Amino acid sequence: MGVAVQQLAESFDTLALHAGAVADPTTGALLTPIYQTTTYRQEAVGKDKGFTYSRSANPTVSALERRLAALEGADYCTCYATGLAAMTVLCLALLRAGEHVVASEAVYGGTVRLFNQVLAPFGVTAEFVDTADEAALRKALTARPTRFVFIETPANPTLKLTDIELTARIARDAGALLVVDNTLLTPALQRPFELQADVVLHSTTKFIEGHNATVGGALITRDPELHERFSFTRNAIGAIQSPFPAWLTLQGVKTIGLRMAQHSENALRIARFLETHPRVTKLLYPGLESFPQFELARKQQTSGGALIAFEIEGGVEAGIRLMNNVRLCALAENLGSVETLITHPASMTHADVPARQRQDAGITDGLVRLSVGLEDPVDVIRDLLQALL
Ligand SMILES: Cc1ncc(COP(=O)(O)O)c(C=O)c1O
Repeated sequence: MGVAVQQLAESFDTLALHAGAVADPTTGALLTPIYQTTTYRQEAVGKDKGFTYSRSANPTVSALERRLAALEGADYCTCYATGLAAMTVLCLALLRAGEHVVASEAVYGGTVRLFNQVLAPFGVTAEFVDTADEAALRKALTARPTRFVFIETPANPTLKLTDIELTARIARDAGALLVVDNTLLTPALQRPFELQADVVLHSTTKFIEGHNATVGGALITRDPELHERFSFTRNAIGAIQSPFPAWLTLQGVKTIGLRMAQHSENALRIARFLETHPRVTKLLYPGLESFPQFELARKQQTSGGALIAFEIEGGVEAGIRLMNNVRLCALAENLGSVETLITHPASMTHADVPARQRQDAGITDGLVRLSVGLEDPVDVIRDLLQALL
């Protein structure tokens, strides 16, 4: 196997291209190869080259792990088949029956389903609270010993923010770890470890790979002990990512800095347009001065990101009509790709979240989520204009 390219530069964009890459000594191939292999020839019993079986580790996956760890400013990363596989390993590695988690009220629907419908029967409990409300967070942590606090900021799909630094302090005082789902902004726009997070989770399916080509997940940490537990659990349950999606993600992530800056610039233009449209009754975008937590967004994010949430006059019916009428934007479940995607969270991504919890989290039946891509924003605005007629 080749050698990892030396890290001569620390700048984010340079790391996105080079960190963790493997130079192939036999061919000189510039790109890290796809090591599509199950197993590895061993020189002698007990003497291997660091790889034995691709459920435990694979060189292409390891290259992606080195790159993602470097981009988050951390030391360790494990990659998974999906974001929810990463979430599952996080929970199985850290929780035992009778233990408790406090999570943001507004999180990805699959995260709620995992806690409520998969982990609850094993005796693990989760309380969903408004983690943007300091008093509510402190109350939840005083009420019960808590293993970790899980926040998603901005939250999918309401874009509500949680103060990462403050939450890290409160969690630490209560003896809990802080896990941040950084999927919606990526390390290009938000740096949870600099704000004292213990673990960062990614659905690499979204902006990290960025091209709607793969599903994948990652757990990143600076703590060797936590990393050891994640690696052990990943191997024990068989949740590792396959080499080909890892290789595609290695290509996609190269342009993360450029893409996230452009996603934000396009989203800001589209949000400004929607804000002035007479049929839009509510609009949430963290890059706009009108956003209720604009100051917090300025404090912990570099820019507003790609997601916009809005409601239009006429409620659910009108929202559905809009989504059925778009031509350039794709009506789809995903977010975080170069193509603009439009979603109805109540019936799609968050359909499994109990209606009451959806309401408490502000996920109204009429809420529309727009994941702004890299098309010329003028074309997206034109599409939304005709769909809003
Ligand atoms: C914020 C967030 N975290 C985690 C996930 C789960 O990731 P995956 O779909 O890759 O399993 C998603 C999926 O939409 C998400 O939006």
